[in-house]
Amino acid sequence: MDILFLGGTRFVGRHLVTAALERGHRPTLFHRGRTGVEVHPEVERILGDRDGGLDALGGREFDAVVDVSGYLPRLVRDSATRLRGAAERYLFISSMSVLADPGPPGQDEDSPLAVLDDPKVERIDVATYGGLKVLCEEAVSEIWGGSSLILRPGYIVGPDDHTDRFTAWLRRVAAGGDFIAPGPPEGPIQWIDARDLAGFAIDGLERQLGGVFTVTGPAERSTWSCLFAEMERTFGAGSRPCWVDPAFIAAHSLGGRDLPLWHPPDRLGLHRLSIDRAIGAGLVHRPEEETFRDTLAWDRRHGVIAESRTPDSPAPCGLGPDRERELLTAART
Ligand SMILES: NC(=O)c1ccc[n+]([C@@H]2O[C@H](COP(=O)([O-])OP(=O)(O)OC[C@H]3O[C@@H](n4cnc5c(N)ncnc54)[C@H](OP(=O)(O)O)[C@@H]3O)[C@@H](O)[C@H]2O)c1
Repeated sequence: MDILFLGGTRFVGRHLVTAALERGHRPTLFHRGRTGVEVHPEVERILGDRDGGLDALGGREFDAVVDVSGYLPRLVRDSATRLRGAAERYLFISSMSVLADPGPPGQDEDSPLAVLDDPKVERIDVATYGGLKVLCEEAVSEIWGGSSLILRPGYIVGPDDHTDRFTAWLRRVAAGGDFIAPGPPEGPIQWIDARDLAGFAIDGLERQLGGVFTVTGPAERSTWSCLFAEMERTFGAGSRPCWVDPAFIAAHSLGGRDLPLWHPPDRLGLHRLSIDRAIGAGLVHRPEEETFRDTLAWDRRHGVIAESRTPDSPAPCGLGPDRERELLTAART
């Protein structure tokens, strides 16, 4: 297939392009030329801004479009409309954040969706991100109908993950010793390896799969305690979680960059999504150990604390050693 990627050079898109190449497809990347200019040098690129610059695509035709950089309904509607006659299928990467209520466990593709107070808003932040993705999905479904595939990933992890959220936990467990672990130990956690998401996406295009799918993992339910135990089994560094409860986390003002991926009790639904539909449609998860090893290996070469770090790299997630020591003392007393 000739596949046009709107994006494709940072993290998720990079893996989607890799999966397409591995399966013998011919990708073309459309992006502004600011991010990942060195990525996939063998692949054709068309430089342009999707905000007003889609004319750079000329009269080109494709078998499929993969929209991995859509956040604003206006821009997604533009690309979905413009490409309707120029491709057969449109795959949109949405997010689990479309859910109206992050609390209830077991939500699926038919659960209620977020509604924005102002549907014209173009500010993308934690308050608007999910509602904007809902409107992007609506535009894609309206214009592409049964020829659209909408994927709603949970937290995406793996090599090239610039967010450092999952990677920071890998680094910490692999360093060994006592560390602050967000409780309760039996609290749920879900994530998806970007390469498994990409495999499902490209496979879906090949099979002309249509509809909406929540895509996360692992296949069997996991908990924070299982996650840390599995990481320790993988790295064998002698790490020991020191569990702290939500009251301790609130009292010490620990946020999402300190204890990444942890949610307070009223948002636990984001780690207990139903993935039955995606599993039924062929979603396959690689062994967790492979995700852990590959991601840590990438982090050591290119991640936020690697030598290749640039002044623009985001700050690492996780607690620094001094803060961690202070919190371990507080947790033990
Ligand atoms: N990370 C997670 O845990 C998570 C969870 C759920 C859903 N998601 C979704 O996954 C996607 C994440 O994508 P990613 O950033 O990793 O994708 P990516 O495709 O690897 O990188 C973003 C791409 O978009 C291009 N781009 C950005 N603005 C553009 C514009 N105005 N015009 C043309 N190209 C533009 C960038 O290149 P240039 O800068 O060169 O233009 C880059 O190639 C998003 O849709 C997000 O909502 C992420």
